[in-house]
Amino acid sequence: MKSTDIKISPSILSADFAKMGEEIVSLEKAGADMIHCDVMDGIFVPNLSFGMKMVSDIRKRTRLLLDVHLMIVHPERYVERFAEAGADFITVHYEACRENLAEVLSLIKSCGVKCGCAINPDCDPNNIKDIIPFCDMVLVMGVFPGFGGQTFIRSALDSLRIVRAEIEKSGRNILLEIDGGVTTENCAEIKAAGADVLVSGSTVFKSPDRLGVIRELREKR
Ligand code: DX5
Ligand code: ZN
Repeated sequence: MKSTDIKISPSILSADFAKMGEEIVSLEKAGADMIHCDVMDGIFVPNLSFGMKMVSDIRKRTRLLLDVHLMIVHPERYVERFAEAGADFITVHYEACRENLAEVLSLIKSCGVKCGCAINPDCDPNNIKDIIPFCDMVLVMGVFPGFGGQTFIRSALDSLRIVRAEIEKSGRNILLEIDGGVTTENCAEIKAAGADVLVSGSTVFKSPDRLGVIRELREKR
C-alpha cells in the first residue's frame, strides 16, 4: 500500500466541542482526509456523544468526507437523517444489527451514502464474511467502543488480516478502517496488517503538531 493510498480520519470525539468550527478548520489544514464522527446512544455503548445536528453543522464548514460511525442500537431509525445531514459514509455495527445487517446496509446505499460495517475486537471476522462484498468500508475496532484514549487491542491485527484477505477475494474497492488506539508507534504494523483508513482521536488532538502527526500516521512504515 502506497502512503498516498492511506487515509487519515481524525475522530472529533477528542475535539473541543465548544470550538468545533475551529477544530474542523485545523484538521483540514493538517491534511486530514475525512472527519470521523462518533455517534453514541448510551445503550450500545456506555457513553453519549452527539447526533445529526453536529454532522449537519460540520457539513456546512468542510468539504472533507464525513465518516459517521454509529454506535447505536437500531441504527436503521436514523440512517435517513444522517444521510440528509450530509454523511458520506455511514457505518453500523454488526453487533447492533445481527438480524438485519444486509437490510440496513441497503438502506444506507439507497440514501446515496457509502455503507460500512463495524466489528468489535472480540468479533470473529468470519461472522461478516458474506456481507463484506456488499460494503464500501469495513471498520475493525482496535478497542471496545465507547471512549477515546484507550489502548489498542493487538488481536485486532489478526482481524485486519482476515478482512483484508476477504476484500482482496471480492475484487471490489472496499476500504478497511481501523478505529481505536491508533498511535504513531503502532500505525506501521496496523497498515502492514491491511488497514487503509486510520481513525485517530487522542493521538491527533493531544499533539501540538497535528500536521506532523497526520503525516507520520500516513507515511510511517
Ligand atoms: C471509540 C471511537 C473511536 C475513538 C478513537 O468508541 O469509536 O473513534 O474516539 O479515539 P482514540 O484514537 O483516542 O482511540
Ligand atoms: Zn469511531
